[in-house]
Amino acid sequence: MDADDTDKEFATKAVHSGMVEIEGSATTPIFMTSTYRLTDEKYKGWADGLHHTVAYSRISSINSEVVAAKLAALEGAEDAEVFASGMAAISTTLLTLLSKGDHIIATPDCYGGTYALLTEILPRLGIEVTMADIRDPSSYEQAIQDNTKVLYVETMTNPTLKVCDLEAMAEIASKNDLISVVDNTFVSPWSSNPIEMGFDIVIHSGTKYLGGHADLTAGFVAGRKDLVAEIFHTKIYLGGAADPHMCYLLERGMRTLHARMPIHASNSAEIAKRLEGHDMVEKVIHTSLHSHPDFEIANRTMPRGSGMLAFVIKGGDSAALKFMRSLEVIFEATSLGGVESLVECPFNSSHMFVPEEVRHEAGVVPGFVRMSIGIEGVDDLWSDIERGLDAARELLVSRA
Ligand SMILES: Cc1ncc(COP(=O)(O)O)c(C=O)c1O
Repeated sequence: MDADDTDKEFATKAVHSGMVEIEGSATTPIFMTSTYRLTDEKYKGWADGLHHTVAYSRISSINSEVVAAKLAALEGAEDAEVFASGMAAISTTLLTLLSKGDHIIATPDCYGGTYALLTEILPRLGIEVTMADIRDPSSYEQAIQDNTKVLYVETMTNPTLKVCDLEAMAEIASKNDLISVVDNTFVSPWSSNPIEMGFDIVIHSGTKYLGGHADLTAGFVAGRKDLVAEIFHTKIYLGGAADPHMCYLLERGMRTLHARMPIHASNSAEIAKRLEGHDMVEKVIHTSLHSHPDFEIANRTMPRGSGMLAFVIKGGDSAALKFMRSLEVIFEATSLGGVESLVECPFNSSHMFVPEEVRHEAGVVPGFVRMSIGIEGVDDLWSDIERGLDAARELLVSRA
């Protein structure tokens, strides 16, 4: 199937888009070569700045072209690029779109690595950064200055799972001539296509749902052809290329995205419902619940949901720790989006260096637990969670 397969269903694109058949192969072989024979056509491609000319694997490879084409098809984007990690995609994008004297509006609720880039590295290069409220598009609008170039959001934030009104944000960006960039990692293209809602650039950490098996790190940028070409040009010199072997694994993972995501979504919704009725639980955050403050926005912008879930256990951080360490099926680890369920307590992982009062202010209150629900049997996951909640209860009783 060609890259020009816009009329096909999502599942068909996931399986077939971008694949390169060699000698009748049913999958793209791994092209373990750092360089390719140069021909007049390739020299011309380079000279014309055509970034899909495969000549050297730090620039692009057959395998990186395959996954880039697949992601472009899944996001409905004009073009896409693949990177060695999500952070390589984010840093290369921002270092392309912003120069000294420019201004970006982002949110403190973004991924920690992105936050460090925005607050430590960009200001050192003379780029101004204003933090606004992801839940309040008007706060982004109010932050616009004469030198603002980029509006940056995430579809759903970590770990408090706030949902961005992508349509409202894209409209603000377009009205004010800003480049809109969204990190769609937490939701995946199966549930949300921000380009359809007016975004210029969509970023993914391919390490999560797209790879889907916790066996690789990768990143993507997809969107407007002119912008992706500029970002590609920077990538050549910053060097965050994706190697062919990793791209092979990524392609394999992406081929089943549409088969995995419904299970992530239904398992997490079921667990959220059961947690809501449990007496050891103070609060559950999941976009399928009417109690989620962004329930209506989520229905519009990420209608199929995702596997991300958070809850607050009674008894504070020590109870959360007891819960987590009593689990046997669910794995204590950072990251998300793999077939296996993962759990972490932000207070001792992603938010370890955030001062306690700032953490609490951001909604990461004592007892906060974040889970990436995988595709195991939901009753086995629930038994594991019940075991953890029982252990936390025993801790509370022993303290009383
Ligand atoms: C929302 C989000 N964006 C970007 C990243 C960075 O991705 P990577 O670890 O692949 O560099 C992460 C990593 O957890 C993330 O959660």
